[in-house]
Amino acid sequence: MSDASPRKTPILTVQQHILQEQKRFPGASGEFSWLLSGITLATKMIQAQVRRAGLTDILGTHGETNVQGEIQQKLDVYADEVLIHCLGVRESIGVLASEENEKPMILRHGSPNANYAVVFDPLDGSSNIDVNVSVGTTFSVMRRPKGDKVTDPDEWLLQPGSQQIAAGYVVYGPSTVLVYSVGNGAHGFTLDPSIGAYVLSHENIRMPSAGKYYSVNEGNRDSFPREYNFYLDRLRKGALGHQYSSRYIGSLVPDFHRTLLKGGIFLYPPTADHPTGKLRLLYEANPIAFIAEQAGGVASDGRRRILDIEPESIHQRTPLIVGSRVEMAEFERCVSAG
Ligand code: AHG
Ligand code: MN
Ligand code: MN
Repeated sequence: MSDASPRKTPILTVQQHILQEQKRFPGASGEFSWLLSGITLATKMIQAQVRRAGLTDILGTHGETNVQGEIQQKLDVYADEVLIHCLGVRESIGVLASEENEKPMILRHGSPNANYAVVFDPLDGSSNIDVNVSVGTTFSVMRRPKGDKVTDPDEWLLQPGSQQIAAGYVVYGPSTVLVYSVGNGAHGFTLDPSIGAYVLSHENIRMPSAGKYYSVNEGNRDSFPREYNFYLDRLRKGALGHQYSSRYIGSLVPDFHRTLLKGGIFLYPPTADHPTGKLRLLYEANPIAFIAEQAGGVASDGRRRILDIEPESIHQRTPLIVGSRVEMAEFERCVSAG
């Protein structure tokens, strides 16, 4: 179908979709869609820089390390500043937290109108930017905890992932795709550069019940727990009835996005370097797990449902095993067999 011919399906932008979805939130007087529009605006600004990295002085390291002890890329810092700016002006947000900042940013958590906390990884997979491999942004939205005794802003953030009222990601790949959910299915929107809007392209995404890819950093396999290697050997030997291919690009968001659309399994197990897992619970595992479950998939830390984990600290790490029902059921059988 040429660009000029009208689409068969109606053009629905993410703003229109969010307005429809927010009708599910009694009393949400447009503040929720205003909040989410901060994320869509910021990610449009981020993708504009990601797309031009190499032409502007935005590649390479920023020269400092973040709270994770990781060298910050210039785009990490830019993406962080853009999200803080775009979300910081949303009156409904009381607390903001980011992978790039040790402490949460307390905006107006005392204000009666501040009902939400947003935590995000402004740019995930940033070590891939200089080699032009897809990267992403992840975000998670929590409601202010009940009760007027809540004075500690950390309490807004340290809630289990099952309490997320919205979550999602943007993958900056051959196209820029936003996937989000407010608990009513997972929906994908592709940025149409000709109109500057995210347009509905993947309505009510369903993760296939099984797939043909497994995704893990095989370089760490000698330090995986024994039952993880037992499981991966079973996949390689076709124990589930078909052959698997390995796909791993070392960038969580596209690695998961492929798993969401094609099925299979993504694993970041405990390793010698990261015995409690490398990925962060609040702003990597939780949003990914929320989307996975909304699409009919499963997400665990190897023992528990990711969304049931009670966080103890903002940057705490977790193993993440997420994917289709068939592969996840086999994983659970291998792990419980011990
Ligand atoms: P970040 O760039 O935000 O630090 O996160 C990178 C993460 C994630 O994107 C990816 O799945 C994982 O690091 C890859 O880690 P390894 O290189 O150890 O496989
Ligand atoms: Mn990350
Ligand atoms: Mn990051």
